[in-house]
Amino acid sequence: MDLFSDEGYDSVEHGQRLFLVASGFFITFEGGEGAGKSTQIERLAKRMRAKKYDVLVTREPGGSPGAEAVRHVLLSGAAEPFGPKMEALLFAAARSDHVEQVIRPAVERGSIVLCDRFIDSSRVYQGVTGGLDPAFMETLEEVAINGMVPDMTLVFDIDPAEGLRRATARRGANDGPDRFEKETLDIHRRRREAFLAIAAAEPGRCIVVDASADPDTVENVVTAAVFAALETMTPAEQRQTAPA
Ligand code: TYD
Repeated sequence: MDLFSDEGYDSVEHGQRLFLVASGFFITFEGGEGAGKSTQIERLAKRMRAKKYDVLVTREPGGSPGAEAVRHVLLSGAAEPFGPKMEALLFAAARSDHVEQVIRPAVERGSIVLCDRFIDSSRVYQGVTGGLDPAFMETLEEVAINGMVPDMTLVFDIDPAEGLRRATARRGANDGPDRFEKETLDIHRRRREAFLAIAAAEPGRCIVVDASADPDTVENVVTAAVFAALETMTPAEQRQTAPA
């Protein structure tokens, strides 16, 4: 693909041509509650846009109309009485829609996609702390993403006690914790360990970021890691394309 082609895509903003990366780049942000992912995604997107990269910011559960419809069911706790398997299937259904409607088209047209949570959240929250069978989770993941493996994953690591304190402060006193935030500190600790275990098992994809540092320091670490990866990137030629 021509790096500067905007064929079939309205990438011309304010008279300036945006920089489209050949084959796009898919970056996910993972970690426990209150780790500051959303703030850092916005900061990174701003820095990348300043360098004329075409950036799409999205999140899970949600990110496409179909997936947003499922989001409320999951986060309100409406699906909780039906068990973790039901929740895992709903997260997977939402993810499949998000991948096919939003993520894959954006990556294929050469954008950089920044996604707040993705497969590792399901592996950790439903798989590990939901106690679901790893083989079932693996199959579900494959079906949901259909080859759309992230090129890079930043795992935001923070002591869960501090993360929950931040999440509560961010929410304000009037709003209660959501379905997953409300769980015990012990469960959040197991999630932290599970995220770190994924990062250790997949060092080619995952980078652990110390999210306890101040936001400017975290921003510098994230920016350096992402720009370094973009420079050396081998666009995901290995990525399977969706069957027609
Ligand atoms: P949200 O308020 O969107 O985000 P965050 O906690 O990242 O600020 O909450 C999403 C919640 O859903 C969060 O508690 C993690 C959980 N979750 C799963 O359990 N499985 C998943 O696959 C995803 C994407 C999220």
